[in-house]
Amino acid sequence: MGIREALDADAAAINAIYNATVSTTTVAWTEEHESLGTRREWMHAQRLLGHPVLVAATGDEVVGFASYDDFRDSSKWPGYRFTVEHTIHVRQDHQGAGVGGHLLRALIVRATEAGKHVMIGAIDGQNTGSIRFHQRQGFAVVGRLPETGFTFGRWRELVLMERILAP
Ligand SMILES: CC(C)(COP(=O)(O)OP(=O)(O)OC[C@H]1O[C@@H](n2cnc3c(N)ncnc32)[C@H](O)[C@@H]1OP(=O)(O)O)[C@@H](O)C(=O)NCCC(=O)NCCS
Repeated sequence: MGIREALDADAAAINAIYNATVSTTTVAWTEEHESLGTRREWMHAQRLLGHPVLVAATGDEVVGFASYDDFRDSSKWPGYRFTVEHTIHVRQDHQGAGVGGHLLRALIVRATEAGKHVMIGAIDGQNTGSIRFHQRQGFAVVGRLPETGFTFGRWRELVLMERILAP
């Protein structure tokens, strides 16, 4: 398994991993699948912004991806320019095998090289697996925002986790 920058050809695999999460969990606060076109546009936009989109791949097979974006709009509020919010997903049949750890550590290296200072994870309160995963990766719970989301007929709590990167 290796970590590399995503290629255009990876868009379908990335989208399938994400959409599987939408169908079966409350990890992402949407009930709508993402279209391949929207996924391609997102990858293109990330590239223009200089934000990495990394994939974990075994041979030709993509089994996970990770990326980051502004935590809050740093063109409107430049004070946020050193803070990013990440996203990370591992294909269900490869979870718990270290793929997420490899991806997140590679993403942190990229963020640090880009001069970022803080990485934030915004996690559904019921996603205890992800909260534990992030704690193991050096993130701490810094906030809980009850009832900030509503999906599948229920209020959702957002858990904010933070890791301060290299000084
Ligand atoms: C959370 C996620 C990215 C972690 O990646 P991973 O490759 O499964 O995790 P790793 O194998 O590197 O690390 C294992 C640790 O992650 C946690 N973990 C989270 N989900 C897990 C799962 N489905 N299976 C096993 N461990 C999981 C555990 O704490 C585990 O350590 P432990 O067994 O010692 O407690 C991945 O499980 C995933 O994509 N989950 C669904 C989508 C999601 O929640 N994304 C994050 C949104 S904030």
